[in-house]
Amino acid sequence: MTIRSMLVGVGSYLPEKIVTNDELSERLDTSDEWIRGRTGIGQRHIVSGSENAVYMASRAAQRALDFAGIDPVDVDAVIVATSTPDQVFPATAVRVLGDLGVTNGFGFDVAAACSGFIYALSMADAFIRARNAKCVVVIGSEVYSRILDWSDRGTAVLFGDGAGAVVLQASEDPGERGVLSTHLHADGSTGDLLYIDGAIGRPDHTGHLRMNGREVFRHAVAKLASSVDEALETAGLAASDVSWLVPHQANIRIIEGVARKLQMPMEKVVVTADRHANTSAASIPLALDEAMRDGRIKRGDLVLMEALGGGLTWGSALVRI
Ligand code: COA
Repeated sequence: MTIRSMLVGVGSYLPEKIVTNDELSERLDTSDEWIRGRTGIGQRHIVSGSENAVYMASRAAQRALDFAGIDPVDVDAVIVATSTPDQVFPATAVRVLGDLGVTNGFGFDVAAACSGFIYALSMADAFIRARNAKCVVVIGSEVYSRILDWSDRGTAVLFGDGAGAVVLQASEDPGERGVLSTHLHADGSTGDLLYIDGAIGRPDHTGHLRMNGREVFRHAVAKLASSVDEALETAGLAASDVSWLVPHQANIRIIEGVARKLQMPMEKVVVTADRHANTSAASIPLALDEAMRDGRIKRGDLVLMEALGGGLTWGSALVRI
């Protein structure tokens, strides 16, 4: 019998503190006009006080479970996509298991930079299809404010903090609904375009994000467009069948570029970059949460997700809600 993963819950958490472009302009040689014009970003949320990767992930996950009406004791696994964990281990996911009160599950983190949510979703779907789990919480939680070089105007203005989560549940009678396909890619030869110049285990632990923005931009539209084509082709569907594009929110110009290639009007694209900036692995579930809660995305809608990040890694997922 066909088994498929249904997306039954969404949730998110954004830090209390908002930092506007104008506030950044007070300490960096930049301006609201430059940042908005080049990226579409107007503000970002930044952690403060006790907010960290685990805190945000746990709150997003609890909201997603509440949305789905699922008790934590019925969760089999938690997968957290993050490049900014609070600790190397225990994994963020295992801390979240503890916070939620999941007593019978397993958990681990996935590091695939901004594509992390697509990677984690793909793994969760594989566990469900292989009947290794019936209910998996997939989370993206990121604290990029920790790894930014706040003196580098080329990167500091682009990112924000936050977390988003979805709940996937096995269904033996899915009809047309559920995760239809996921597609993952990586190219190690482009590793120096976007990376963190530090890691635990190195004499200087402090790592900062470094990026060749122009080159990343050049790769992004082409790779994302080919990945969404791949998803549609596998499903035997056309771009016109897609109800909503929910892209990784790196930059409005990249998002518009992919939408243009798909000949998809921007009215069918969920955009949060203006308010959240780039929250890396958290950006897709944050956008999904917003659009499902405000009623734009409805049951039966076909949602196409895509992301590209450091690695380079990239991928897409096609989900019927
Ligand atoms: N404010 C003002 N000026 C800035 C600036 C800022 N925040 N950041 C860079 N600049 C300046 C540069 O110093 C450069 O000045 P110069 O010509 O005097 O040397 C000028 O703006 C152009 O820089 P460049 O890097 O060529 O700009 P760009 O048009 O490529 O835009 C990005 C920069 C980062 C917005 C763009 O490359 C981009 O969006 N790349 C993709 C990045 C991304 O999304 N990464 C994450 C993927 S997950």
